[in-house]
Amino acid sequence: MAKKTLGIGLIGGGFIARFHIKSWVGVRDADILGVFDLDAKRAAEACSLVKSAGVGKAKPYRSVTEMIADPAIDALWICAPNFTRVEIMEEIAQAVIKGKGALKGVACEKPLGRNAAEAGRMLELAKKAGLLDGYLENQVFSPAVVRGKEIIWARGAALAGPPYLARAAEEHSGPHMPWFWEGSLQGGGVLNDMMCHSVEEARFMLTPPGASREVLTPISVTAYINCLKWQEPRYADILAKNSGGKTDYINRPAEDFARSLIEYKTAEGKIVVVETSTSWCYVGAGLRLSMELLGPEYSLQINTLDSGLKVFFSRQVKGSAGEDLVEKQNAEIGLMPVVADEATEYGYIAENRHMVRSFLQGRRPEENFEDGLNVTELLMTAYMSADKGRTIPFPPPGLATYVPPVAKGTWNPRKK
Ligand SMILES: NC(=O)c1ccc[n+]([C@@H]2O[C@H](COP(=O)([O-])OP(=O)(O)OC[C@H]3O[C@@H](n4cnc5c(N)ncnc54)[C@H](O)[C@@H]3O)[C@@H](O)[C@H]2O)c1
Repeated sequence: MAKKTLGIGLIGGGFIARFHIKSWVGVRDADILGVFDLDAKRAAEACSLVKSAGVGKAKPYRSVTEMIADPAIDALWICAPNFTRVEIMEEIAQAVIKGKGALKGVACEKPLGRNAAEAGRMLELAKKAGLLDGYLENQVFSPAVVRGKEIIWARGAALAGPPYLARAAEEHSGPHMPWFWEGSLQGGGVLNDMMCHSVEEARFMLTPPGASREVLTPISVTAYINCLKWQEPRYADILAKNSGGKTDYINRPAEDFARSLIEYKTAEGKIVVVETSTSWCYVGAGLRLSMELLGPEYSLQINTLDSGLKVFFSRQVKGSAGEDLVEKQNAEIGLMPVVADEATEYGYIAENRHMVRSFLQGRRPEENFEDGLNVTELLMTAYMSADKGRTIPFPPPGLATYVPPVAKGTWNPRKK
């Protein structure tokens, strides 16, 4: 008889793993049973969070292979940094191919790879090992995005014609760990880190409900990148201090601002446009995700900081810095928006429910490594466009092996 409850193993027990663990209270038919993290302390912390949330009897493992070998583990969630992706997936594929354990599926955090070659290799390895693959792009599962799409297509598009423009922006004041800031480790700067979300959720909104992503064909990409804030000496100093002297934004910056415009052709031969803007130099209450979908007689807007819940603290309330009100919180006093249930609002619960259900039913998730590869290809084309200062027809030659100058450590807007 088919197993009814999926045993999940997390690889990496840091920031995003904590979000997944918190989301699990809304996920059915799966328990988190294991964590592997190179840092044993992180693994132990994640395991105790799992237990206190009541979402599984998680225990730490000493390696990915050891976790796979445990028959209790049926699927893995890759939540380790970008620079470890391929190495981890190689180990998973090898263990499964050698019969060291039986896995149903693997789900991987965004981005699928630092570049198209890595993302392509991830897909290849999943296929080779016969694994179902899920690409963890939470925003296409966010309730406002999903419900907004449903309403717009059912009411507006059905009567007035399909939407022609989707705008998405992802902005905050910068990542929490030094490795994100290093082009070589992360794959780029904010374009790679956050435009992966915007590009995919905007594409999702423009795609008719139930249709596959092939109905929109990318035609061209135009992009711009710059380092507006963090290359200033006083901010570069902060990055250097936070990384024990490793991050050097004077000589090896990554972009902290990026925008792109992607033209798609629809199945009917019409042009539709995705416009994205992403930033690590946005200073506001915290993470701001915004989205607009526009068509001939309608529009939709989402802004996660326009939350229903707001609190006010006078200047007499001098509490310590925290992230208890909203992700990437920047302040503790004044009028502050609160995202009451971030794991729901950002889409983690629906994302994990979908992945679990797909794996249990033996189906490939709707958001899978193929999508992760497509997103990476668009992002790499955006880097090419920013580098060349012109629109690039898609797909450009050399895409499969392209590594952006930011990732090579050779990009420096102040030395142009
Ligand atoms: N969906 C989202 O909105 C979102 C948000 C944040 C991060 N992420 C993605 O999640 C991934 C992790 O980011 P994070 O913010 O949790 O980073 P993090 O640095 O907070 O945590 C990463 C954890 O992985 C561990 N680790 C490092 N190398 C490892 C290895 N080889 N094997 C196992 N564990 C290892 C580290 O010790 C650390 O505990 C990144 O790919 C990032 O892009 C996605």
